[in-house]
This record gives sequence, C-alpha cells and structure tokens, in this order.
Amino acid sequence: RQNERESLYIVLNYAKSFYQEQLLRTDEGQAIGLSYFRERGFNDTILKKFELGYSPDVWDAFTQAALAKGYQADVLEKAGLLIRKEGSSTVGYDRFRGRVIFPIHNVAGKVIAFGARILKVDKSKAAHQPKYLNSPETSVYHKSEVLYGIFQAKNAIRQQDVCYLVEGYTDVVSLHQAGIENVVASSGTSLTVEQIRLIGRFTPNVTILYDGDPAGIKAALRGLDLVLEEGLNVNVVTFPEGEDPDSYVQRVGAQAFKEYLGRAARDFITFKAETLLLDAGQDPFRRAEVISEVVGSIVKIPDAIKRQIFFRRTSEMLKVEEQMLISEGNKLLRKQQ
Ligand code: UTP
Ligand code: MN
Ligand code: MN
Ligand code: MN
Ligand code: MN
Repeated sequence: RQNERESLYIVLNYAKSFYQEQLLRTDEGQAIGLSYFRERGFNDTILKKFELGYSPDVWDAFTQAALAKGYQADVLEKAGLLIRKEGSSTVGYDRFRGRVIFPIHNVAGKVIAFGARILKVDKSKAAHQPKYLNSPETSVYHKSEVLYGIFQAKNAIRQQDVCYLVEGYTDVVSLHQAGIENVVASSGTSLTVEQIRLIGRFTPNVTILYDGDPAGIKAALRGLDLVLEEGLNVNVVTFPEGEDPDSYVQRVGAQAFKEYLGRAARDFITFKAETLLLDAGQDPFRRAEVISEVVGSIVKIPDAIKRQIFFRRTSEMLKVEEQMLISEGNKLLRKQQ
C-alpha cells in the first residue's frame, strides 16, 4: 500500500515534468498551450510557480514516453494517467490529450492529480468534451479532501489570517499573479468537512469568492452551513454577473480588486438573508420560510455569543422580534439533539 503510493508520487511527478517540457520546449506546446496561457494573461513566473503544462494532441504521447523511461503501464493506470481497455492488445491511451494542464499538489507540495482544460469550449459538443477533465480518484488523490492551491497558499493564509475560497483553477492562478496569495479553490464541487478542516489548520476565517452566476450563488448558499458548523467565520463576496475572480482581477487590477473585496464582503448570515429575501419578494409565506432558513443557519454556529449577535442582526434585517427568532432557534436545536 505504502509502496504503491510512493510509486504513484514518482510517476505523477514525472508526468508533471513531461507536461511542463511539452508546454515550454516543443513547437506544439508553445504554439497551442503557451499562447493559450498568454492570451489569458499568465506570465512566465506564474506558469512556473504552478508548474502548468500542456498535453500533446496525440493518443499516447505521455504513455510512450513514460514506458520508454521504464515506468510500468500498471502504475500509469493506477495514477489515472493511462486508460486501458479490457481485452485490447494495445497498451491504451493517455487520459489527457490536447489540453493545458494544472497539476494539483497536496499540502506538502507533492503532485497528486491533474486538472486539464480544453482549449476551446464548444457548446454544441459540451456533452462529449468537458471543459475540464480531472484525474480520477486514486490511492493518493481523494478529491473531497483536496483544495487546489493549498501548498502555494498556506503561508499567506496563515499570515493574512484569512483564506479566500474560489471555484476554479484559473481564479487561484490569476489572484496569485496579482499578489493575492491566500487563495484556494474547491474546484467546482460543494465543500466537504475535510476541506473545511484543512483550511481550519491555517485560519478560522474564510471569505468565499464565488462566480457571479446563479450557480455560483447557489453553491455559496449550499456549502456554507457546513463551514459554520465547523466553527469557522464566513464572509461572502459575489461578483458582477458573468464575472469570476480571474476575469475580475484581470480587468480591474490588484488594487481595485482588493478595494472591491473590502466593499462587497458580507457575513454569511447577512448574505443568505438578503439573497433569499430578494427571491421571496413580499409574499408573507415565503418570507416566513426565509426566516426559518436563516435561523437554521444561525443555530449551526457553535459559539453562543456569535449566535446571539446574528440573532440580533437578523431580527433587524427581517423586521421580526429577536425573541421570536431565538425561540425558533431553540426549537431547531432541540430537534437536532
Ligand atoms: P468554471 O466553469 O467557473 O471554470 O468552473 P473556470 O475555473 O472559470 O475556468 P475558465 O476560466 O473557463 O478556464 C469552476 C471549476 O469547476 C471545475 C474546475 O475545477 C473549474 O476550475 N470544473 C468545471 C470541472 O471540474 N469540470 C468542468 O467541466 C467544469
Ligand atoms: Mn481518504
Ligand atoms: Mn462558474
Ligand atoms: Mn473563469
Ligand atoms: Mn469560473
């Protein structure tokens, strides 16, 4: 078991170097991969820092190179790099082809997986070709426990005493390039307890920077009761419709980005109440549902003093008696126990 994991780390590290070489030192890599990253505004320093790469548009370029180096097909497959068809006489084909590559590191800096982006998103073919293709679960990659960028971000998170949580790989990379380094990505999935505890090793403060689309806002509402339960303090920043942290920071620059965060950050309970209230309009029944939704989140907060503060704030916002919220909360708490 231990041996298998060690050999996966070695082959994954080799794959990372292979993809990097392809990006930086081959004609195809430069013409396609490098110019893609340049168009997105990524500079050489940031490409190296995140060890970004390119996988050639060939069925088995990586596999052949790895076999020639003496790596076993079996190990390539277990690392999620090689796809073999049962009963086929050929060795199989590379999982990642014709894509730009984002290595995923664990907290100690070892490569454990890859995210691979298609160069052109073709909406008509979206069902066949996902925008991002990711490594499968392996003995070293448990998706639900990983945050993209944690290795590059951990010192900054500790120093700034806050972790910015974004959705995507490119959000992490762009913010680093802008000098904002305390940032990790959930990689598009809803947050898990393991990911939250990983952040909690470095800071109790999380600011969610999700995409300014309905999916991003829903994700922010969904994942967050879990974060409250773990006792972390949560703030939320949403971006203008159609923007994400990457596009926004590239458009306005680092200084204006930071000012926006300062202006737009709301604590999670306020964010949730305001977002749901907007949806509910004046309908009294739907407003009542909002109240119990928000109370449901407040009672997730383990700290009694913080709960108290949020009951008061919410009562002002929703224009209901604080005492009524508290007794609603107590009912929910009793149900939980
Ligand atoms: P987004 O659709 O917001 O992509 O998905 P993005 O990060 O802004 O990427 P660009 O700017 O178009 O290149 C957010 C994250 O969800 C995961 C990826 O981790 C992505 O960064 N995702 C998205 C997938 O794993 N597969 C997909 O097909 C799409
Ligand atoms: Mn596990
Ligand atoms: Mn999105
Ligand atoms: Mn984006
Ligand atoms: Mn995005």
